[in-house]
Amino acid sequence: MLTPTWQTGHMGNVVAILNQKGGVGKTTVTLGLASAAAHAGHRVLVVDLDPQSSSSWVLGANPATVEVSAAEVLSRTPASRAISTTTWSDGIHLLSASNRLQGREHGNPQRLRAALAEVSGAYDAILIDCPPSLGNLTTSGLTAADHAVIVVEPSALGLRGIGAVADVIDEVWDSHNADLELSGVIVNKVPGVSSEADRRLDELTRIVGKKAIWQPSIPQRVIVNQAIGERRAIHSYGARSTDVSEAFDALWAKLRRVVRRTTAR
Ligand SMILES: Nc1ncnc2c1ncn2[C@@H]1O[C@H](COP(=O)(O)OP(=O)(O)OP(=O)(O)O)[C@@H](O)[C@H]1O
Ligand SMILES: [Mg+2]
Repeated sequence: MLTPTWQTGHMGNVVAILNQKGGVGKTTVTLGLASAAAHAGHRVLVVDLDPQSSSSWVLGANPATVEVSAAEVLSRTPASRAISTTTWSDGIHLLSASNRLQGREHGNPQRLRAALAEVSGAYDAILIDCPPSLGNLTTSGLTAADHAVIVVEPSALGLRGIGAVADVIDEVWDSHNADLELSGVIVNKVPGVSSEADRRLDELTRIVGKKAIWQPSIPQRVIVNQAIGERRAIHSYGARSTDVSEAFDALWAKLRRVVRRTTAR
């Protein structure tokens, strides 16, 4: 059990990473940002809200045997009892998922918010990896969050459904969490050369506006897939992953600016 709390209360540093579409890179972006944070000597907590438990597994945990997981935190266990260290870095802690999350589709969306408020002071940011749905787990993630970041891929199917995500953010803002901000869109899996992807990026710009799209976007690279499969941080591949690692460094710097603006309030 970890008790990293040195300051409690509302910190403004909780970020939900979401899209109801599966496979766009929510987990990859969460872990890439965590990797960049640790590389810069910062501290993050990754909260895995997906019953598939991908980010927990990639961070070295065994979601099949974890005794206290996000599911228990959603039913009143303090977050500090569920947080563990990771094999990746001293700077990255994990609130693991478990398949018991499947049974937590109902419940009070404020619980996660209250639990994370008790530990948020120990971290530069808390990154919530949301499941590919817009159900109660995502609502809990958004209720706990100060910032929502949508991950998209530049394909026709990848852009469908952004409106539904925006509607859910709006709904949570209305009913559960007036502090929530839609902070931006991260574009992932951008191919080297593709006029189709370029067209979709133009379309995305028309939908959300240029300022909402965080720069840079993340290129599509085999090494990203490999890192996930090998359960390793993208920064651990050195020169083989430089362009991807640098993209995550820049996005982490952006996220820190966004978070610090609200923390200073
Ligand atoms: N930039 C990229 N380049 C190459 N492969 C990528 C990239 N981003 C993600 N992938 C691959 O795409 C797949 C889906 O990524 P990921 O699991 O991060 O998506 P997700 O949105 O979290 O999925 P789910 O909705 O199931 O939670 C993974 O195999 C991952 O390795
Ligand atoms: Mg995922």
